[in-house]
Amino acid sequence: MEYTWNDIEQHINECTRCPLSGTRHLPVMGRGSHQAGLMVIAEAPSRQEDQQGIPFVGKSGEILDRLLGDCGLNRKDIYITNILKCHPPGNRDPREEEKEACFPYLKYETFLLKPKVIVCLGRVAAQRIISPDFKITRQHGTWTYRKNCGLTATYHPSAILRDPSKYEIVKQDFLEIAQKLAGL
Ligand code: URA
Repeated sequence: MEYTWNDIEQHINECTRCPLSGTRHLPVMGRGSHQAGLMVIAEAPSRQEDQQGIPFVGKSGEILDRLLGDCGLNRKDIYITNILKCHPPGNRDPREEEKEACFPYLKYETFLLKPKVIVCLGRVAAQRIISPDFKITRQHGTWTYRKNCGLTATYHPSAILRDPSKYEIVKQDFLEIAQKLAGL
C-alpha cells in the first residue's frame, strides 16, 4: 500500500515507537512544499519546535531563513524535516534506537517528495544519511549522488549560533546548493 502525506502525518502524530513519545509535547513532521526539489534534513526538534509542532521556528530557524534568503531560496519552496520527529529532552543527541525507530517516517517523506537535492544540516543527519563516518568540518560542501539525487551537508544553524564566523562558510555551501537546483 502507498502512503499519502496525510497518512504519514497521522502515523507520526500517533507514534509510540520510542520513549520520546512519552516526553514530547508535539511531534514535528516535515514542512514545506510537496513539490520541492530541495529537501533539508536536520537533527531533531528543539524546545520551541516541540511546543509548536513546526520545524525550525526557534533561533536556528531564524538563521536558516536568513541563509535561504541570502541564496535566493525560500522556505515555502523547499521541504524541511528532521531525523527525529520528537524532541529529545535537554536537546541531547538522538540515541541509535530513536533514530532507527523514526527512520521509516523519513523514508516515506523522501519517497513521496523524490527530491533532486538533499542537504543534511549537521553531523547527526550527515552521518545517518550520507555516511556513518562523515566529518562536517572536513567534508561539508562535498557532494555524493544516489539515484539521481545529489546529497551534501553543511553545519547545523546552531553551530552558527555558537560561532557566528561559520555563517559565511554555510552561506557558500548554500550558494552552491542554490546553483545546483537552478541548473536542474
Ligand atoms: N534544530 C533541528 O535540528 N531541527 C529543528 O527542527 C529545529 C532545530
